[in-house]
Amino acid sequence: MRKVSFAEFGGPDVLHLLDAEEPHAGPGRIRIAVRAAGVNPVDWRIREGQKLSAHPIELPSGVGLDAAGVVDEVGEGVEGVGIGDHVFGEGFDTYAEFAVMSAWARMPEGLSFAEAAGYPSVVETALRVIREVGVEPGQTLLVSGASGGVGSAVLQIARDRGIAVIGTGGAANQDYLRGLGAVATTYGEGWVERVRGLGRVDAALDLAGSGVIRELVELTGDPRKVISIADLGAPDLGVRFSGVAGSVPDALVEAADLIARGRLHIPIEKSYSLTEAATAHVDSRAGHTRGRRVIVV
Ligand SMILES: NC(=O)c1ccc[n+]([C@@H]2O[C@H](COP(=O)([O-])OP(=O)(O)OC[C@H]3O[C@@H](n4cnc5c(N)ncnc54)[C@H](OP(=O)(O)O)[C@@H]3O)[C@@H](O)[C@H]2O)c1
Repeated sequence: MRKVSFAEFGGPDVLHLLDAEEPHAGPGRIRIAVRAAGVNPVDWRIREGQKLSAHPIELPSGVGLDAAGVVDEVGEGVEGVGIGDHVFGEGFDTYAEFAVMSAWARMPEGLSFAEAAGYPSVVETALRVIREVGVEPGQTLLVSGASGGVGSAVLQIARDRGIAVIGTGGAANQDYLRGLGAVATTYGEGWVERVRGLGRVDAALDLAGSGVIRELVELTGDPRKVISIADLGAPDLGVRFSGVAGSVPDALVEAADLIARGRLHIPIEKSYSLTEAATAHVDSRAGHTRGRRVIVV
């Protein structure tokens, strides 16, 4: 099979599409014929060799965590899924023709493989941070960096739960944020005053890692009401860094339910082929993805 892999840490040019041995589903896992793989910032962070204790790897390594595809092997002890089922979820080395999955759910009706591949990690992250920050229906959540993959999921899950959101994004994404139910404002000079002018903030999420932790604490009045997923310096200011994925199967079931009810839709900014994986990383790293980028196999 063909698989994107890298033998040394470095820039996008270390990625190569190579012939590789097919992986097989061990106990508790399934294998899918990958139809599409989600592109996440963590993919290029790992490729660059950034220290990510949550994602230890050995070289040479494949790339990619999220995928959607057709089940073609079912490991020992796995129930409730069969050959030919269409699933989406998280696995290993998903920028490839076949991948082993560790968590999956049936794809909601009407979703393309490309769309489905965009959901798993960002929905898991969104559900996790909304839970951890402890925001309740009727309260207001400030989301810094609201227009990317995680932000798009957070805004729609919050709307579904009756949590009001103030979201910051680039000038080009203001209408996009409003379309997801948020009160929108731009980041950049004067943003704290603009947010203050929009009303009280009960809790805040830093999704962009743009050096705003102090300001988020100031706006909420309590470091315990702020969480970052992108600023490793947050704990120095008394703010939790949320970095450990958990409860993925439940997150996928919840994602499927939200999608089926028409409450969650994350658009695809751009699709790439396996041969364009390096370009997908360059574009993701530029930091202004609206929704998701995916690799279509
Ligand atoms: N710790 C975890 O568990 C975890 C999980 C998932 C992701 N992450 C990390 O969280 C970050 C976001 O992930 P993602 O998948 O949502 O990324 P993404 O889809 O690439 O989105 C990045 C967003 O950041 C926004 N942005 C850029 N500069 C900004 C600034 N100065 N202020 C506010 N927003 C700004 C962009 O908005 P505009 O286009 O509007 O400028 C863009 O929409 C990444 O660093 C990723 O590595 C961590």
